[in-house]
Amino acid sequence: MSKRYLYIETYGCQMNEYDSDRIRTALDMEATDDPQKADVVIINTCAIREKADQKALSSLGKFKHLKSRKPNVLVGVAGCVAQLYGDKLLDKVPHLDFVLGPRAIPRVSQLISQVENSRRRSIETSFDIEEVFEVEPYHEEGKVTGFVSIQQGCNKMCTYCIVPYVRGKEINRPIHHILREAKNLVRKGVKEITLIGQTVNSWKMDGYKFGDLLKMMADIEGLIRIRFTTSYPRDVTKKMIESIKGTREICHHIHLPVQSGSNSVLTTMKRTYTREWYIDTLNRLRDSIPDMAISTDIIIGFPAETEEDFDDTMKLLDEVQFDSAFSFKYSPRPGTPAAQLADQVPSHVATGRLAELQEFQREITSKKNLRRVGQIEEVLIEGESKNDRNWLSGRTTHNRIVNIPGTNDLRGKIIRASITEGFQNSLRGVLIENI
Ligand code: 5AD
Repeated sequence: MSKRYLYIETYGCQMNEYDSDRIRTALDMEATDDPQKADVVIINTCAIREKADQKALSSLGKFKHLKSRKPNVLVGVAGCVAQLYGDKLLDKVPHLDFVLGPRAIPRVSQLISQVENSRRRSIETSFDIEEVFEVEPYHEEGKVTGFVSIQQGCNKMCTYCIVPYVRGKEINRPIHHILREAKNLVRKGVKEITLIGQTVNSWKMDGYKFGDLLKMMADIEGLIRIRFTTSYPRDVTKKMIESIKGTREICHHIHLPVQSGSNSVLTTMKRTYTREWYIDTLNRLRDSIPDMAISTDIIIGFPAETEEDFDDTMKLLDEVQFDSAFSFKYSPRPGTPAAQLADQVPSHVATGRLAELQEFQREITSKKNLRRVGQIEEVLIEGESKNDRNWLSGRTTHNRIVNIPGTNDLRGKIIRASITEGFQNSLRGVLIENI
């Protein structure tokens, strides 16, 4: 049988990129960037905010014409929007052939055969799928970095968040699975692995905790860097901090979403900590690992957020001096408790606050990046820079992007660079030595 082609479009988080790569292995088709050439088109969607959700759906509209010209092409929706709307999507979008929830990826091949054999549109959004971790993602040859999922779903019940509804309850991946996938990546030449999960540091299994897993990862021969994302503040344990401190391979960066600096907002969000507790956790981290880089996520305009609450968040940014922060305007999500709250903040108020906060954080990030000028940084070279083939791009342990002039033979190596310039999102430097 001749090779069939898969066109897949991915929206949202790192987990979705990973899932798209799993869909690619599960289907064993040739990937294409050209939908016109595809036999199967899949939109892997994100539901975290309304905008992401709409973007994915409007993208689906693009394939209406293709489907009417080539009725044998199968068009599917995967990911969190698929899970959220389920068969309503089939009602709403006549050119849609199948709907695949994020837990059901190992069943994608079955689902497609079913649609083809029965000539009927089909849906697979079951959470109860035993083989949930079975499919390893496609990995591009020569890539220096890779991802390994260690967890599916989420058990925290943050009132704004749709994740537990669309990705289900937390299930942790068995250690032997994680290590097997990580070793396979290293065999393919990967030097840095990021462990991913919704609350990655909540992982536990067979008496082992996240701190133990980090150490076991570091024992993998040939793996020189380990990252992990996203961490949940309440699960930053002493053991985890000790593992990071005591293990050379673990990068000195944590992404630790605070969401708000106001205790009353944190309570309504059900984040289960106060601003004081969060700051104390960062102090414990920084006391142990003084150069630990910290990034965060913030939601602006959560229901009932007052000027005073917003001010508390601004003060927290000032006090903590995050290395970087992603900030979002609150978006009510169907079925979440916060969407029912009476006191929704007017959109223009939230937009104004968000702009103010982003400007403030931009200054902090720039200032911190500028402070690296004149310093020596160890950089894992990931490859040629996207914009210029005479430049190489890599990252420091603190997750700062560094560009240096050089040739691709340094790819996969850790080098020392002297930093010459600092920008908003990256640093520039020159090669000092190869280590
Ligand atoms: N509205 C806005 N931002 C949200 N996030 C999660 N849910 C919402 C929502 N309903 C943000 C949080 C989270 C990040 C991935 O997305 O900051 O950490």
